[in-house]
Amino acid sequence: MLTKIKNFLHITILMNIYSLRNFLTGNGAVWLKLDTADLEEMAEKTVRHKSLELDGKKVLDLGCGTGTMLHYLQREKNCFPYGVDVIRLNIHQCRKKMKNGSFFRQDLMKYLQETSDKFDLIILYGVIGCFPVTQQREIIGNISKIMNKDSVLWIGANIYEDSKYKFQTYPVPRGFYEEICTEDSSLDLEEIEEKEIFGNVKYDKNQTTVFLTKNV
Ligand SMILES: C[S@@+](CC[C@H](N)C(=O)[O-])C[C@H]1O[C@@H](n2cnc3c(N)ncnc32)[C@H](O)[C@@H]1O
Repeated sequence: MLTKIKNFLHITILMNIYSLRNFLTGNGAVWLKLDTADLEEMAEKTVRHKSLELDGKKVLDLGCGTGTMLHYLQREKNCFPYGVDVIRLNIHQCRKKMKNGSFFRQDLMKYLQETSDKFDLIILYGVIGCFPVTQQREIIGNISKIMNKDSVLWIGANIYEDSKYKFQTYPVPRGFYEEICTEDSSLDLEEIEEKEIFGNVKYDKNQTTVFLTKNV
């Protein structure tokens, strides 16, 4: 019950406050401690690390916030951006930044049930922890169905149950991603501590980034 209230306050109050702040200040990150440059750097390092070729390809950002990562990837890598977020102001900001793109003000679970598009990169940065662990499994299962061969699902700011950081609403148990890849053999797992790949971690110093690559 307490966790549900925390999640409600997090998404309905806090995220809206960040969005309003960003609307007024121009900061592109729906986070307390991150800014536009942090998000752009992480997007760049991810593309480089996974050797992604995104020219003309579709990139989906679920819980895209104000579209900062998508905007960067469109500008620098010439991808076609798709963004989904529940907050109206975020989607408004995305449309303002990217004339060419598809943006949906929608619950991402509903979007995943309805879309018939397929993607080459799917981003879930700082989003999956808003969902209970059973729903996190369901979300990854549904994403797996819309991934092209060799595409990557990037799940960032991943925090485990045993972390000292207590602000993640639904942290995952150890072995969570290994289990997912055992059940869905079309996904290959790579997990890296964010301080290693991105440096400059401003939340949990042990948070990880997970890359699930579609092998079929
Ligand atoms: C911590 S912010 C991260 C935003 C963005 N990924 C970034 O890194 O800047 C979490 C985002 O997830 C969105 N979100 C949370 N629950 C959602 C849901 N059920 N469907 C779609 N978006 C959701 C919030 O509105 C918010 O923009």
